[in-house]
Amino acid sequence: MPSSTLKSLVVLAPLVTIATAALTRFPRGYGTEQTKCKNGCCVWYEMLDDVQANLFDGGMCGEEAHESLRLTFHDAIGYSHSQGSKAGGGADGSIMKFTDIELMDPANGGTDDIMDLQRPFAWKYNVSYADIIQFLGAVGVNNCAGGPRLRFFAGRSNETIPAALGLVPKPEDSVDMMLARMHDAGFSPKELVALLASHTVAAQDGINSDFKAHPLDSTPSTFDRQFFVETLLKGVSCPDKSGKCGKGEAPTPLVGEIRLASDGLLARDPRTACYWQAMIVDHSVMIHNFTTAMHKLSLVGQDESLLTDCSEVIPHPQVMCSCPTPFPKLETMPGPALMIASVPK
Ligand code: HEM
Ligand SMILES: *[C@@H]1O[C@H](CO)[C@@H](O)[C@H](O)[C@H]1NC(C)=O
Ligand SMILES: *[C@@H]1O[C@H](CO)[C@@H](O)[C@H](O)[C@H]1NC(C)=O
Ligand SMILES: *[C@@H]1O[C@H](CO)[C@@H](O)[C@H](O)[C@H]1NC(C)=O
Repeated sequence: MPSSTLKSLVVLAPLVTIATAALTRFPRGYGTEQTKCKNGCCVWYEMLDDVQANLFDGGMCGEEAHESLRLTFHDAIGYSHSQGSKAGGGADGSIMKFTDIELMDPANGGTDDIMDLQRPFAWKYNVSYADIIQFLGAVGVNNCAGGPRLRFFAGRSNETIPAALGLVPKPEDSVDMMLARMHDAGFSPKELVALLASHTVAAQDGINSDFKAHPLDSTPSTFDRQFFVETLLKGVSCPDKSGKCGKGEAPTPLVGEIRLASDGLLARDPRTACYWQAMIVDHSVMIHNFTTAMHKLSLVGQDESLLTDCSEVIPHPQVMCSCPTPFPKLETMPGPALMIASVPK
């Protein structure tokens, strides 16, 4: 071997090592991560693998991912146009800073577990509570097959005030109450329905404590349309032995599943039912509109122009199933005749 070739190999060796180190640090290998790093997104790249391994059980769409997604809403909805800035700063991390105060709102029940797991990461990487809540929501839902790649902006202040109690919608609320509350925080009925796609990766613990971890649809690890479909099916019973529903709960068609009364009502109300059905018609509409509405949610009370767009840190989502042709039209056979009640006299 000529000595010049040998020399270039020796020179090459350290370069190869550096390239491998960079790949290990940013295993998803985006083209511009180094540039983004300089723009203040570096810390989020550093944190990503840590949270995937040590918070999300190796990049799973499990309980921690579900709870992290829920938390983005419970922080951000602490905002009110009618009550003014003293009522809360929206997506400002207040729920994590003033946990004792905000947990007095029963609607926030169950959010403390995930906050206890998230806080150490905020400390370790010295980022604001407001940012870490939105970041972990985006990373968590990204772990769900078929899920969206949410945008992530960084730079929210750590200075916050506690949100007023009563700003978080409850499952026993009427549609009037839910729509009024969302409107007061800047969201339309259409946006509420789009945000509720999150309930496709969801379970409950607090509504019926005898049936903890019971999901809101049959596929709680997949960001599919099943939640919207199953909520439209006729409910048969609640999982209670007697079939009786608890507060905020409505009958479901499937054993093991829980239906929130709020979801059952929104699926059927004339103001929201068509948006609900539109979510079922097209998965890409569901993903697109959820992503847009979540972007808005993550910026409640914030000025986007003062934040840094670190969306590139969020990994590309897992593909659920992608076929070149649409789902085929299938011939169906009539099922057994049902017992149909006659019209009362
Ligand atoms: C009308 C508005 C809403 C109501 C009444 C509502 C109510 C609830 C309730 C009662 C639970 C079960 C909590 C438990 O007992 O553990 C839940 C779970 C959940 N919610 Fe909502 N929700 C609403 C809107 C939203 C929105 C806008 C998001 C968007 C981020 C969201 C995300 C979630 C998620 C991901 C879970 C599952 C948490 C888990 O499995 O641990 N919800 N919701
Ligand atoms: C942590 O962040 C805060 C706020 O950005 C900053 O004032 C402080 O110096 C940082 N601490 C360390 C150890 O980097
Ligand atoms: C944010 O506030 C919390 C609670 O007050 C504090 O523990 C944390 O160090 C702060 N983080 C930054 C980045 O300033
Ligand atoms: C979805 O978003 C598009 C705009 O991006 C909007 O025109 C459409 O009405 C939305 N559909 C639903 C059902 O939210």
